[in-house]
Amino acid sequence: MSSGRLITIEGIDGAGKSTLAVALEAELRTRGVPVELLREPGGVRAAERIRELVKDPDLHIDPRAEALLFAAARAQLVEDAVKPLLRDGTWVLLDRFVDSSLAYQGGGRRLGIETIREINEFAIRGLRPDRTLLLVVDTALGRGRLGARARPLERLEREQEDFFRRTAGAYLELLAEDPTRIKRIDGSAPPDRVLAAALEAISDLL
Ligand SMILES: Nc1ncnc2c1ncn2[C@@H]1O[C@H](COP(=O)(O)OP(=O)(O)O)[C@@H](O)[C@H]1O
Ligand SMILES: [Mg+2]
Repeated sequence: MSSGRLITIEGIDGAGKSTLAVALEAELRTRGVPVELLREPGGVRAAERIRELVKDPDLHIDPRAEALLFAAARAQLVEDAVKPLLRDGTWVLLDRFVDSSLAYQGGGRRLGIETIREINEFAIRGLRPDRTLLLVVDTALGRGRLGARARPLERLEREQEDFFRRTAGAYLELLAEDPTRIKRIDGSAPPDRVLAAALEAISDLL
């Protein structure tokens, strides 16, 4: 059996990642592709516990501790779920992956993309996404969409505008560095157009 593909979905809060992830999973299933959607941080038990910690608005978490917690959750997810699924020939869709840490902790928190890349290299041991779909929206549009959601804002979602601008800027740096892996998708388009663009961006893998 051939190995599955790893597709990651990235972008700032409110860009439409989770919306696209659910639609893309359904569309791939319809096409007969064995696929599993997992979220980050979390996806497996121990990592979901770390998720509760990093999302808690009542906690102050030091930026370096935050970076290590995300990397720890990712290491667990990769070993427990992603690698076994890929080995079985299942495609894995990830709602966020390493690029989120490079953008948020490297850019947003100003720890530096290279520093964050090193700790993640330790965490994931060379696993590379086959394709990354980067949903690009204005930070104001992302913020506006979050405000319209029913649930209270999580710890990172409460950050200020300049944090999100640095994060969005870091995502664009990553795109410029690796345009073969990372495909830019206009996240301000309606959901059906976003899905069509995503399918186009992975058409060579299908
Ligand atoms: N393409 C889109 N056009 C308009 N609204 C959208 C679109 N994608 C998502 N939304 C809405 O915006 C909000 C944030 O979307 P979500 O998928 O949760 O973003 P993310 O996972 O990137 O934070 C949700 O209320 C969702 O219904
Ligand atoms: Mg989401």
